[in-house]
Amino acid sequence: MIEYRAITRPDVPAIMGMCRREGWTSFARDTEPTWAILTAPGVTTLVAVEEGKVLGFVQMQSDGLLQAHLSNILVVPERRRQGIGSQLIREAFARCGAERVDLVTETAPEFYRSFVHQEWFGFRLHPQ
Ligand SMILES: CC(C)(COP(=O)(O)OP(=O)(O)OC[C@H]1O[C@@H](n2cnc3c(N)ncnc32)[C@H](O)[C@@H]1OP(=O)(O)O)[C@@H](O)C(=O)NCCC(=O)NCCS
Repeated sequence: MIEYRAITRPDVPAIMGMCRREGWTSFARDTEPTWAILTAPGVTTLVAVEEGKVLGFVQMQSDGLLQAHLSNILVVPERRRQGIGSQLIREAFARCGAERVDLVTETAPEFYRSFVHQEWFGFRLHPQ
């Protein structure tokens, strides 16, 4: 049975390993900044765990009432298309307290289209 629960510190190395294997570099540095990012105020980070193995995680940032942003979601390749990503989103959405979740994606439009949604153009701003 898969458990969907809040991140704990011992989950961080598994999450960093998943990100490295996916080619994501943002969490590939050190454990402490990764833990700080995933547990910052307003952040909901959940893991999907089966028999002690982390199968996926989701990170949402929320004002707790209205607006949330989906920052990261990742499921291990061998367990995709089994509903784990959808359940991570449903659980994080329910727990973060927001009415709506915005996100940008390059890689998973069909996944997000499987939810009730609207589509717009998205931007990510960087410092000049
Ligand atoms: C995106 C991701 C999290 C989806 O997780 P998942 O557990 O495989 O998703 P689900 O099984 O809950 O999929 C739900 C539905 O989304 C759609 N979907 C999911 N992945 C899809 C794909 N690769 N192609 C087409 N449709 C897809 C399907 O409608 C699916 O339902 P179905 O399997 O009954 O047809 C996973 O593919 C992943 O980790 N990808 C790499 C990381 C990534 O791109 N993250 C998003 C960054 S914005």
